[in-house]
Order: sequence, then structure tokens, then C-alpha cells
Amino acid sequence: MSDIKDDEKEILLDHDYDNIQELDNPLPKWWLLTFYGTIIFSVFYYAYYELGSGPSLSEELREDMQVVEAKMREADRKAEANIDWQALAKDPEALAVGKSIYDKNCASCHAAQGQGLIGPNLADNYWIHGDGSMPEIAKILKKGVLEKGMPPWQEILKPEELQATTAYVYNMIGTNPPNPKAPQGEKIEL
Ligand code: HEC
Repeated sequence: MSDIKDDEKEILLDHDYDNIQELDNPLPKWWLLTFYGTIIFSVFYYAYYELGSGPSLSEELREDMQVVEAKMREADRKAEANIDWQALAKDPEALAVGKSIYDKNCASCHAAQGQGLIGPNLADNYWIHGDGSMPEIAKILKKGVLEKGMPPWQEILKPEELQATTAYVYNMIGTNPPNPKAPQGEKIEL
């Protein structure tokens, strides 16, 4: 009690808890400014994000995901540009992987040896899409032709699996399996 200075008397609050007293000091300016600043900010924030055109969290997520996906596609494209297709087409391991994927996922529509069934003959030199080169086959595998019944495999198979399947399909060309489906598309001279 005794060590309260004269100029503090005015701002001394009149309560006393176990001899603990309190001065009514004003809050620091910087603190008040920050505090009022957040209130003013909240008005604009609310107006923009809740009432106005500000993006919602899910919209922001969608936009971010588009950027991520574009980057991944770009990375895939770069990786694909470096593929040694000729080596892959002769790589027994890749071809074994390609065969098991083909037997499981593709034979139902393109037949066991690629002679064609619901889907076109893959063992001939006629192509509806592209020119039968491996990059072109890889492209059609990835994107599919949904409206014609060819599913896109991009999301289902991993890039290495797609490449292995591409190499396997490429090796079917010209194998003349029995009971071929009639040619569809353009004849490609190899
Ligand atoms: C549900 C049936 C179906 C399945 C499963 C399927 N395809 Fe197809 N595929 C088709 C059809 C139908 C087309 C023809 C699309 C068109 O006419 O444009 C096609 C087209 C293709 C083509 C292009 C042929 C050309 O002449 O241009 C390739 C290559 C191909 N498929 C490979 C595959 C591979 C590899 C798989 C397995 C990973 C597969 N397909 C699975 C139905 C299927």
C-alpha cells in the first residue's frame, strides 16, 4: 500500500485482494491499434469471403489441385520424353509385366492375342488412333476413347505399367493371330 506513488493514486482501482492492488493503466497504443485493426480486417474478410466473390476453401483446394496435377502431368511428359521405347520393346521384364496387365485388363475386349473382339484388332497394321508407334499407343492407353468403349488407363495403371503394356501391345503388331477382327482405321506402313 505504502509504495503507491502520488500520480498512481488517480488510477488505482478500489479493490484489494490479499493486499494485491491494481492500477487502471491504459493499454499500449500498439496493442489497441492491432486490436482495432483485426476488427476492421474481419469486416472486409467477412464481406469478401462470405458475402462477396472470395473463393471458398473447397474452391481454393480445387485450384491448388489443378496446379499440382498440371505439374505432375508436366513431369510425366518430361519423363516420357526420355523413355527409350526401342529398348523397352525388347526388355523381357517389361514385356512380362505388360503381358500380365494385358491378360487381366485388355484381353476381354481386344482378345487374348490382340486379334480384336469388342475393341479393334491390335495385331494388325491398321490404326484408328495414331500410327501404331509406341508414344501414340501410350497416348491412347492413357486417355482412352470413352465414348467408343475404350477406358482411359491413366488413373488405373502406374506410368511404368502403362509403358510396359505399350511395349507389349507394340510387339503384337504383325503377329497375325488366328481369327482376326477385320481391320479398322488407316493402314500404317512400318
Ligand atoms: C471395355 C472394352 C475395352 C477394354 C477393357 C480395353 N479396350 Fe482398348 N479399345 C476398346 C475399343 C472399343 C477401342 C476402339 C476405340 C475407337 O473406336 O475409337 C479400343 C482402342 C484401343 C486402341 C487403339 C486401337 C486403334 O486402332 O487405334 C489401343 C491401342 C487399345 N485399345 C489398347 C488397349 C489396352 C492395352 C487395354 C488394356 C490396358 C485396352 N485397350 C482395354 C475397348 C477396350
